[in-house]
Amino acid sequence: MFKPKVPQKEIKYEELRIYTDEELRNPTDEEMKNFKIKHDIPLLEQLESGPWPSYVADLKVEAWRRRRLADDRMMIPRDVVEDLLGQVELSFVHGETHWKHGGIVGVIGYGGGVIGRYSDLPDKFPGIAHFHTIRVNQPASKFYKTDFLRAICDLWEFRGSGILNLHGSTGDLVFLGTTTEQLEPIFQEMAHHLSQDLGGSGSNLRTPECCVGRARCEYACYDTQDVCYELTMHYQDELHRPAFPYKFKFKFSGCPNDCVASIARADLSVIGIWRDKIRIDQDAVRAYIKGDLIPNAGAHRGRDWGKFDIQKEVIDLCPTKCMRLEGEELYIDDENCVRCMHCINVMPRALRPGTDTGACILVGGKAPILEGAQLSMVLVPFMKLEPPYDNLKELIDKIWEIWMEEGKNRERLGELIQRMGLWRFLDAIGLPPAPQMVWHPRTNPYIFWKEEDVPGGFKRDINDYRSRHAR
Ligand code: HEM
Ligand code: SF4
Ligand code: SF4
Repeated sequence: MFKPKVPQKEIKYEELRIYTDEELRNPTDEEMKNFKIKHDIPLLEQLESGPWPSYVADLKVEAWRRRRLADDRMMIPRDVVEDLLGQVELSFVHGETHWKHGGIVGVIGYGGGVIGRYSDLPDKFPGIAHFHTIRVNQPASKFYKTDFLRAICDLWEFRGSGILNLHGSTGDLVFLGTTTEQLEPIFQEMAHHLSQDLGGSGSNLRTPECCVGRARCEYACYDTQDVCYELTMHYQDELHRPAFPYKFKFKFSGCPNDCVASIARADLSVIGIWRDKIRIDQDAVRAYIKGDLIPNAGAHRGRDWGKFDIQKEVIDLCPTKCMRLEGEELYIDDENCVRCMHCINVMPRALRPGTDTGACILVGGKAPILEGAQLSMVLVPFMKLEPPYDNLKELIDKIWEIWMEEGKNRERLGELIQRMGLWRFLDAIGLPPAPQMVWHPRTNPYIFWKEEDVPGGFKRDINDYRSRHAR
């Protein structure tokens, strides 16, 4: 059960409604057929065909809705959506963007959260002369109630374009397109009436994100939502006021399936894991073998893959070959299991993660710029995760201390570790090296030694050497 960390005031959603249902209703097919936006968009209109939900069709509906609203029912131009479609059409023609470079806007007290943006054709498309994006910190795992979403949508229709991105790749609920004047009112409305804060942008802690975790998944090895929420609240200052050499992201997955792709998209990836044995229900194993239970919970039902063959589909695919069948008993040599999740994924009714659970902490994930893409690498093979997660906070604080001090301007943590070398980084945060940190030992012999570890040190006298070895 979710327990907020700060006192929550009751949100009176009904009083927050701005529009009536009639004002926001959807058009009939007939009404849409007769509706034409102010620009010709033949290229975009091709994207209304086909089975996938069309963003062009959706934007047209929104344009239709704004045409119907009374003049005093919108704080930014009525035709913001139509001008957006017009400019995108032109970008399709030119094969070029028509947004100006950069844009620095925000709200008082914060150094991030809003991405400023201006059209480079403001005379042609005045409705999007300003088209700023606001990042709104989403609830962990993105569970919503409709009355919250209605209140958010009303506010955004009134003070913005009505266009949302559900959600940004980092996790935020994204408001797409408003003017500078509306930023502060939107922020104040959200903070005072919806207990809703902005997300992160800039050289700071970005909005943390987690998988669905214990809310709806049997594999979750820790409460991803609770950690995500706790750390978001604990590091509010780092999130709202950029103090870092560059951006920094947290992501939390409950197991190695890594449903938020934390290993690829976070500087700090927290991935659930267990230390004890996989729990085996032998009756359920037999039910899978017999065909009474469907492998992978039916994920491959779209095609006939033949009768389930536990040897072929599980045992032979185990990456460490640590499973075996004796009669109809399944054995796992857990010492050699690398917790890849494969067997559990195939037979979720028979196999479960152990009960001594926690997380593996990995660091350094990033996209290619500058020094090449990196997946996060193991820093702490196993850490218990229990509220208030002081052990994790302590590790994060140490990482930040060294990165904030040593990191070059716009150097991600992964690049700092490459530049310093893992051993210096481990030294700096006081962690001992562990074999789990490397895929294989180094192949080259360019090994640095610390002077104190070398008998006699590094200061040598050449004459002493010559006394034994003549020139
Ligand atoms: C007056 C005598 C020598 C001179 C002027 C000399 C000069 C150099 C220079 C300029 C390099 C390139 C260094 C670099 O990569 O930046 C080099 C590399 C090398 N030298 Fe010499 N060298 C001499 C004698 C020797 C001797 C006697 C040996 C072996 C017994 C040797 C073995 C090597 C090796 C193995 C490398 C490659 C090192 C690497 O891979 O980085 N050199 N030498
Ligand atoms: S990462 Fe693991 S725990 Fe989280 S939702 Fe995916 S399968 Fe479940
Ligand atoms: S989790 Fe992976 S490594 Fe472990 S027993 Fe199952 S298949 Fe093998």
